[in-house]
Amino acid sequence: MAAREIARMGAQVLNEPALAVEDPTDGEVALLVADMLETMRAAGGVGLAATQIRVPKRVVIFEVPAQRTADGVAMPLTTLVNPTWEPLGPELEEAYEACLSVPGLTGVVPRYRRIGYRGYDLAGRPIAREAEGFHARVVQHEIDHLDGMLYPLRMTSLSTLAFVDELRRTAAAEREVEAA
Ligand code: NI
Repeated sequence: MAAREIARMGAQVLNEPALAVEDPTDGEVALLVADMLETMRAAGGVGLAATQIRVPKRVVIFEVPAQRTADGVAMPLTTLVNPTWEPLGPELEEAYEACLSVPGLTGVVPRYRRIGYRGYDLAGRPIAREAEGFHARVVQHEIDHLDGMLYPLRMTSLSTLAFVDELRRTAAAEREVEAA
């Protein structure tokens, strides 16, 4: 296992759709996920897509701290191979979002408030969950990475794009912005 360099906005691998994984139980996928986990932990993020370490495969990892879930229960580290999602209802929610591939910046992004998502774990078992709020946001953000989409492209107004440390100076924005 090794932490790898994180691709930043401008790297072509972040702009292209990633390829489906043929066999989630392939040992190479487990090695990839081990490196993704070490990279995410070293960077202090809550999520990471394989494309962010320059591997164009449809694999994401994420975790949701207890203070950011609707029911106060943390969503433990989850690996999703070949993930998909769909909105559960039309409601959108706006919140500041950040990305390890766009370091230092944050901006307001509308996301579906409630979603269903699916994928496979490293044993090839299907995962199917419903999520809301921050949990739903992280999943949408990570799967966007697999489709070559970075969050600034989802912003409806660039007027909220800001450096995190500048925002923290203002009383109105004393919040933690987790990057993914
Ligand atoms: Ni990201």
